[in-house]
Amino acid sequence: MSEASPLAGFYKLAQTERQQKLAHYVDLSDDDLAVLEAGLLPEQAEVMIENVVGRYVLPLGVATNFLINGREVIVPMVVEEPSVVAGASYAAKVVRAGGGFQTSSSDPVMIGQIQVLDLTDLDEAVAKLKTAELDLLERASQADPMIQKLGGGATGIEYRPLPETPAGPMLIVHLLYDCRDAMGANVVNTAVETLAPRIEQITGGRVNLRILSNLADRRIARAECLVPVEQLARGGLPGNEVARSIFEAWAFAAADPYRAATHNKGVMNGIDAVAIATGNDWRAIEAGAHTYAARNGRSTSLTEWSLVTENSTPTHLRGILEMPMAVGTVGGATKAHPIARVSMKILGQPKATTLAEIMVAVGLAQNLAAIWALATEGIQRGHMRLHARQIALSAGAQGPQVQKIANQLVTEGKINLERARELVTGSRE
Ligand code: MEV
Repeated sequence: MSEASPLAGFYKLAQTERQQKLAHYVDLSDDDLAVLEAGLLPEQAEVMIENVVGRYVLPLGVATNFLINGREVIVPMVVEEPSVVAGASYAAKVVRAGGGFQTSSSDPVMIGQIQVLDLTDLDEAVAKLKTAELDLLERASQADPMIQKLGGGATGIEYRPLPETPAGPMLIVHLLYDCRDAMGANVVNTAVETLAPRIEQITGGRVNLRILSNLADRRIARAECLVPVEQLARGGLPGNEVARSIFEAWAFAAADPYRAATHNKGVMNGIDAVAIATGNDWRAIEAGAHTYAARNGRSTSLTEWSLVTENSTPTHLRGILEMPMAVGTVGGATKAHPIARVSMKILGQPKATTLAEIMVAVGLAQNLAAIWALATEGIQRGHMRLHARQIALSAGAQGPQVQKIANQLVTEGKINLERARELVTGSRE
């Protein structure tokens, strides 16, 4: 059994105490703590997008208990939904009891697409491009000398002839590009735009689109965990029965796209929250995830759960999540958003592949938390407990009164605004 998380009991502390404890553990400075308070400044927002009229604030929480490849990881998460941070932390705790998450990842290779039309013979165009590949790769790599210097750059070219499309035949040229610590949208888009005129020259065709693909299936991250079944006991049900129910819940998602969509939404609850906290493009990750889930023609579960048995009795629940993870740790909002910079510090300044691995570990934990709850007591009980706090806040409760009124709502089993208002008014009288 692994040791308890250094932030055990974190949720019981007041917000300022949490900040102090976190600062002590991950070495945040007073300036970092000031950033957590101030968030994005108006002048920073002004240069981030257009027509800025304000700033939208969401809570930043940290998930605890994550042991990833033997390393303690405190995970910053930005999300508006109650239960997500608590769910990830809780699932990470039982995974910890089985030794934590084991993760790995491919090289950070993205795909850029070039659409070539008006070709009389697709095979002939491919043959011509093949003879010019070295030159094309060299030109593409020069699109970003810095990435090339760091060991990245163009790594290959692939061809996808599409003989029948609504617009007639076309050849899609894929440029594979190792983006190192960049997410890669800028570098890959620059590279494919650079190559386009040369590709027209070589093939005699006409290039239309030149753009990165969000189906980043060459940039894969993988997380695996092994949970001792006794850790899963809940609500009077023994761990081995719960493990079986979790396995059945997964089988449902594996077989049914309607369930897979919701199951994978649960995975993405965790992944998106880390993507936002670190300033990454969560729409890109979402797009890649759902297309990857449907890569064999039907949407299925991104995760895989199985039972490890001894004499037909489950001893462990094994979970695996393997999916595209196009995230960067340099450039974009990762550096421009002040909270994203602090998040990277909380994570221990990981490189992009490490961040990708942390994110799949969080996705796997989040999925376990969801299907574990669904396969036992249902999600409403825990969810409503946290939801009660939001109701209390909406009813005008302040400070310690929020938790007190939330507890009262739960005890009475009346988690609604009307009752919360009565309690708030009552407590002021
Ligand atoms: C809610 O945000 C996510 C869940 O619906 C995921 C799932 O059903 O597995 C609980």
